[in-house]
Amino acid sequence: MKFFIDTANLEELYKAKSLGLLNGVTTNPSLISKESIFSKKEIENHYISICNLLENEEDLSAEVISTNYDDIIKEGKKLSFLHSKIVVKIPINEDGIKAIKYFYKKKIKTNCTLIFSTGQAILAAKAGANYVSPFMGRLDDISHNGLNLIKEIKNIYDKYSFNTKILAASIRSPLHIIECAKIGIYAITSPLNVILSLFNHPLTNIGLEKFLKDYKNKIH
Ligand code: E4P
Repeated sequence: MKFFIDTANLEELYKAKSLGLLNGVTTNPSLISKESIFSKKEIENHYISICNLLENEEDLSAEVISTNYDDIIKEGKKLSFLHSKIVVKIPINEDGIKAIKYFYKKKIKTNCTLIFSTGQAILAAKAGANYVSPFMGRLDDISHNGLNLIKEIKNIYDKYSFNTKILAASIRSPLHIIECAKIGIYAITSPLNVILSLFNHPLTNIGLEKFLKDYKNKIH
């Protein structure tokens, strides 16, 4: 299972990389707005810095802010020319799907985002998106079962052997990650702190403390 980090923060990405936990990166306009970036040029340079961190790993999904077909194409092309590791992230709607189809023909990789239903995921796959990003956490937030959506998409994609990879997004808890792993989801994209919480178990801390205490009591 691939771990993508859902952030535009370089320090977090360095940390993930040092732990061998950086397989890819996703950003969105809200995540970009959290960083000290104030111009389009700075955003471009920031994306390039992230891509350079990825080396032999997968890619960086950079989201378009355009909403109509012509502008999505223009913006997406510009993003994809920045670095070979950039995947153009495009929200699902009619213009978005048309753009994904266009980029598919041009062999430019895309990630279809803001997926909240199985129908949307089918449309993304049929258009040739490389990734589909269903938002687990935001569905759970409104008392819908995010995991059920992921399972349904996986089931359908497997039946038709679609090439679109599922990138489970809006991850809020370690259980989201574990449940996705149990059903063989290709990748999750998560804030680093949620991934780090996979390390935690009270018995590990208690066990380590006891091992060290026993050793120090005997060996001088
Ligand atoms: C990634 O593709 C999504 O933009 C992101 O996971 C959304 O996460 P959030 O629901 O925590 O904002």
